[in-house]
Amino acid sequence: MRTHYCAEINEEHIGEEVTVAGWVASRRDHGGVIFIDLRDKDQVVQLVCDPADNADAHKQAEDIRDQFVVIATGKIRARGEGLENPNLKTGKVEMVVDKLVIENRSKPMPFELNDEKVNEEIKLKYRYLELRTQKSYDIFKLRSKATIATRNALDELGFLEVETPIITKSTPEGARDYLVPSRVHGGEFYALPQSPQLFKQLLMVGGFDKYFQIAKCFRDEDLRADRQPEFTQIDVEMSFCDQEDVITVAEKLISDVFIKCGFDVPTKFKRMTHANAMEKYGSDKPDMRYDLAMVDVIDIFERCDNEIFSSIAKTPKKNRIKALKVPKGDEIFSKRQMKGFEEYVRKFGASGLGYFQMKEDGLKGPLTKFFTEDDIQAIIDRCELEVGDAVFFGAGEKKLVLDYMGRFRIYLAEIMEIIPKDTFEFLWVMDFPMFEVEEGKVKALHHPFTQPKTLDYEDIEDIESIAYDIVLNGTELGGGSIRIHKEAMQAEIFKLLGIDEEEAQDKFGFLLEALKFGAPPHGGFALGLDRLIMIMTGASSIREVIAFPKTQKAQCLLTQAPSEVDAEQLKDLSLRIRQQTPTA
Ligand code: AMO
Repeated sequence: MRTHYCAEINEEHIGEEVTVAGWVASRRDHGGVIFIDLRDKDQVVQLVCDPADNADAHKQAEDIRDQFVVIATGKIRARGEGLENPNLKTGKVEMVVDKLVIENRSKPMPFELNDEKVNEEIKLKYRYLELRTQKSYDIFKLRSKATIATRNALDELGFLEVETPIITKSTPEGARDYLVPSRVHGGEFYALPQSPQLFKQLLMVGGFDKYFQIAKCFRDEDLRADRQPEFTQIDVEMSFCDQEDVITVAEKLISDVFIKCGFDVPTKFKRMTHANAMEKYGSDKPDMRYDLAMVDVIDIFERCDNEIFSSIAKTPKKNRIKALKVPKGDEIFSKRQMKGFEEYVRKFGASGLGYFQMKEDGLKGPLTKFFTEDDIQAIIDRCELEVGDAVFFGAGEKKLVLDYMGRFRIYLAEIMEIIPKDTFEFLWVMDFPMFEVEEGKVKALHHPFTQPKTLDYEDIEDIESIAYDIVLNGTELGGGSIRIHKEAMQAEIFKLLGIDEEEAQDKFGFLLEALKFGAPPHGGFALGLDRLIMIMTGASSIREVIAFPKTQKAQCLLTQAPSEVDAEQLKDLSLRIRQQTPTA
């Protein structure tokens, strides 16, 4: 229908007749001459409908409103002196319309496109209108580019793209499953995959050597700004490899995709052990765009005169006393603000937050009286304090202190506005613990198919695994591990996780069986594609980078899913809905 996309039109077309097609972005009537901004997928061209040039086209233009679908034919001319629009790619030219066809009309818009303040619910209900904005188009153009770059990079590295089932058996990634009732087998259910984890391992047993998939995954979990119930992974697995081989592939893939998308990133990423990340940054996904690292001062506090601190310091394996230096903090924050920070950490279980100020005449603060001169000096040296700095202390149970001090670090960076924009700081977090114990229950930190470094242990939480996460700007972009490829070890891990033989057979019998048929050593990783695009585009929510996303409450406001189904369908599926009793 068109001869050109708007973006293609420039001064070379002056005097030429062209046809463009798209939506009316705006219409202005300037005393008889009507100007229309016509927008197609990604650019705008100005149409001029002058009754002196063409009375019919002008008459049509009078009838036109925003977002009507229009096909316009006319001659391109240079805009008059001083009328050029430097903000438009086509801003030096305009079209004098000869023929204007209104292909379709539009109801008045439910919201103003490009208005950032519009309620998100309305935008999601009319998502297809939001997609008409330049911002959305640019996001999805980049997403497409990144997806194609992924396929090309992995193809070049010899990986085979294979699809794995969507209606399948549960794969444990730590969330609840979405279940699909079976009609043929009444009372039985498929689960939607939380990831292709088990199938990709079976592909290795199948001898495929190098697999990848741009895979849809489904997890019924609490949603946040970087989580959706349905999301996409770049999923990779390879055989006869060690951790270094996997990391090499991941670094090549990630840097290739960023570079193809026009970003300058390194081809090798920094590394840190999980233990170090937790101790220094209180997080397994530290944002490396800024420093604010914590140091341990438990040994100094053990000698202090304050009963609370010295008793916490007596059990250094269980407890922590951490100092967080804020360079120039004493100059930046008022005393009131410093006291106010305590309220912030209390929300995360802290019983208090101590602080010192480094003044010209030495270290000051409510706690100094409990320390000897020598220990005051030890604090200054350990924290590398200079005049004008402030230092905050958290003390208590290890997990709790690391958690609230880690959150406090991010909070400080945000309020101090020290997080640089437009930089990408990658970090491998390595040697994750194999297990964590919550309320007496042993859980796999990555997943139960991850290879432990050893199974000799005193404290089960001290066992490390060959698992690694790739962190980008403080977000977990992806993760992976070397897998267990021997049936006896897999059975042992299930046992440690409290999964008895019957349950192991019922849930993962097919995997245990496959491991008996010559499973090769193998490992891999998965990257969150949505998160990758979110960070690349600087989007504030994952919803912006998914064409048809769900709300925080896992609803699709456009289609009204989830919705009730009719009684006949339920009967077919052997299901009956129990009336929900309202909770008190
Ligand atoms: P994991 O569970 O760490 O590992 O997931 C890998 C990556 O997927 C992304 N991701 C999500 N993105 C959006 N919404 C969600 N709800 C969501 N959940 C996860 C994250 C995450 O880092 N099978 C293993 C990988 C492996 O071992 O190879 C797995 O799924 O970016």
